[in-house]
Amino acid sequence: MSIQWFPGHMHTTRKAIAERMPEIDVVIELLDARLPGSSANPLLAELTRGKPSLKILNKQDLADPQQTAQWLAHYQAQPGTQALALDASATAPARQLIKACRSLAPLRGGMVKPMRVLICGIPNVGKSTLVNTLRGKRAAKTGDEAGITRTEQRIVLEDDFYLFDTPGMLWPRISIEQSGYHLAASGAVGRNAYDDEEVALALLTQMLLHHPDRLQARYKLTDISGLNDEAVLAEIGRKRAPLLPGGRPDTQKAAEIAIHDFRSGAWGAITLETLEEFAQWTAQAAARDVERLAKKAARAKRG
Ligand code: G4P
Repeated sequence: MSIQWFPGHMHTTRKAIAERMPEIDVVIELLDARLPGSSANPLLAELTRGKPSLKILNKQDLADPQQTAQWLAHYQAQPGTQALALDASATAPARQLIKACRSLAPLRGGMVKPMRVLICGIPNVGKSTLVNTLRGKRAAKTGDEAGITRTEQRIVLEDDFYLFDTPGMLWPRISIEQSGYHLAASGAVGRNAYDDEEVALALLTQMLLHHPDRLQARYKLTDISGLNDEAVLAEIGRKRAPLLPGGRPDTQKAAEIAIHDFRSGAWGAITLETLEEFAQWTAQAAARDVERLAKKAARAKRG
């Protein structure tokens, strides 16, 4: 795994969520619609087990609509779960989440039993944007109230609808290799924690599988059939950056360009993982974990 980081305030945030959980009616998890599997936090799943859940696939404007529909159906089919796709800056659609939360916890509402909703998500998923959109003019931030920690802010969206905001949270060990790269590509992980070229190669692998034509058009490449991810990265370097001594392509620069183009939507609407791919990566990672634990146990036994 080449993505390595100290997940910031993870422990503080984790503790704050665990303490708040008994009085939470619905948990909103904001996912990145371009990486709907990788942006789901397994730590959060553990902390919020059994609570009604609203999955929001944010940045839907940057994701492939057909893939988004499949991921929405997948989350929607989970018990006690609803799913919505959003562009966090659009006000009217964002307010649909209030309706969705009310239908997930129909017994809550009114001044005696106000709805209490926790909103969580990985860094850079668009949580601040969404909270600001929801907050509009009406809602007040009441983070200074007693019992509400600095790591958590309470926002009153309607008289009987409270939203508890939490800082972006990652988890300590990402066992699915592709997820590490996709999280890095999404901007969830600090720049020093990953290698640009490895992340760009992971992006190009998915682009070659699903949208080679878009790479060809974007970088004016004549024919990329038969090229692998490394060859395409080198081609991008040749087209877009001065050659290095010896006539070598600048693959670092090419990687930065590829990551930037993915982030800005210059490759068009892209979803990096289909449901089937993500299921396969999850199974492979689980098998690797079993192997790793077996080796560890064998070592411990040998003394
Ligand atoms: P966070 O609180 O979860 O860390 O994320 P934040 O709202 O700061 O959003 C991270 C970046 O993602 C911002 O871009 C924001 O504009 C963008 N963003 C949020 N939601 C959406 C969305 O639904 N669609 C698209 N296309 N972009 C979204 P930035 O470049 O970091 O800053 P900015 O200059 O655009 O604000």
